[in-house]
Amino acid sequence: MDKLRLGVIGAGSVVREIYRHLYFHSDYSRLLSIEAAADPSAAALSDFCDPYGIAAELRYGDYREMIASIPLDAVQVNTPDSLHEEPTVRALKAGLDVLVPKPLADTIGAAHAMIDAARTSGRLLVVDFHKRDDPRIREAAARYRRGDYGEYQCSVWYMLDKLMVADPNHEPRFFASPDFVERNSPISFLTVHMVDALLSIIGLRPVSVCATSWNQKLSSLRPIAPKGCDMCDTEVRFENGGVAHIITGWHLPNAAHANTVQSARLICSNGMVDLGLDTPGFRELAAEGIQERNPLFRNFEPDGSVSGYGISRPGRLYGQILRFRRGEMSPEERDRILSPVELGFWTTVALQAAERSLALGEGRERGTTRGVAVDVEELVRAELGGAAEAYLRPEATEGACRG
Ligand SMILES: NC(=O)c1ccc[n+]([C@@H]2O[C@H](COP(=O)([O-])OP(=O)(O)OC[C@H]3O[C@@H](n4cnc5c(N)ncnc54)[C@H](O)[C@@H]3O)[C@@H](O)[C@H]2O)c1
Repeated sequence: MDKLRLGVIGAGSVVREIYRHLYFHSDYSRLLSIEAAADPSAAALSDFCDPYGIAAELRYGDYREMIASIPLDAVQVNTPDSLHEEPTVRALKAGLDVLVPKPLADTIGAAHAMIDAARTSGRLLVVDFHKRDDPRIREAAARYRRGDYGEYQCSVWYMLDKLMVADPNHEPRFFASPDFVERNSPISFLTVHMVDALLSIIGLRPVSVCATSWNQKLSSLRPIAPKGCDMCDTEVRFENGGVAHIITGWHLPNAAHANTVQSARLICSNGMVDLGLDTPGFRELAAEGIQERNPLFRNFEPDGSVSGYGISRPGRLYGQILRFRRGEMSPEERDRILSPVELGFWTTVALQAAERSLALGEGRERGTTRGVAVDVEELVRAELGGAAEAYLRPEATEGACRG
């Protein structure tokens, strides 16, 4: 086998912005044969399939029919976060391997069901958290793990999008379908990237989460006034006493120097790391103003191919799936790939805990909501019952969910 026969489930914005480049114009395209696509939206199907000549009979309105009808090795589940579980579990049980874009799922229960289905079906499940392949995050992680900075103490992370990302009144629309802000929050869309990047550096487990949100800008937009928040500050406390504040939102003026204004500072007992995440490449002055360009993430090469860690991360995950299907992966490597840390289980926990914190919080002055502190162990136990121990005390449970 030299190519994976891939079925694409969900062909919306992330496929348009990232994955179609991976599938058809990257160094990893040779690993993949795009066999079919499934999406209930006929418009999404034709936007994706027409340019690449995917035949009409290989376009499905229902992914279940696609999985049942044609020979596939793997699927990629690009549906909204709340719809990752069902297609993933069905595909795993049908003997296919699965890649999902971040986050694994939006609830702890769904994340557990997906991890469990991967382990019991004997297949592979991988999650595309592309920041894990950002060379700066990788290097910071390697140095932290080597002990260069000492014990993690605290950090502040920013990921603030231009307003046009969330504004349904902006033409052309970016990610913002009319109900984008109602279906997504800065926590589910942005905080998960930064929580996961932080966890990939420090490898600590969160123990409590408390969020604050602001709703002042989006509700003032016209003619469509989206119902959702501008910005959230998620405070995460870790098992070693360390703290992080993850500040994310999508209401910066469109004149911002990058689509996503982002940075982080980590302070440890013996040192400090500054990650200038939005100054990765070069500064451009053109008719539209000054912009920071990020060729590290997504780079359009002169030969028409697309590179960068937005492409290499999922590309390398497909390399793993191909090795697994060829029988070239050891059981230990598969166990590591299916560990909760690797699959982003704790990132989903932080996401659900932050949303719970706000849901239980109190509305305050001028559109702010102050959340309550959510205890992570209590939340995982409440969501998973007896299955919680495998995540909370992996050393005491029979290796079911290591890590
Ligand atoms: N890698 C990244 O940085 C990144 C960026 C954006 C989104 N994402 C993630 O990608 C996923 C998709 O996000 P998006 O922005 O493309 O959303 P989107 O709403 O633009 O697209 C989702 C698509 O899924 C389709 N869909 C819905 N139900 C379906 C079903 N049952 N079967 C098949 N298709 C179905 C919709 O019709 C739509 O075309 C989300 O999990 C999101 O968090 C990741």
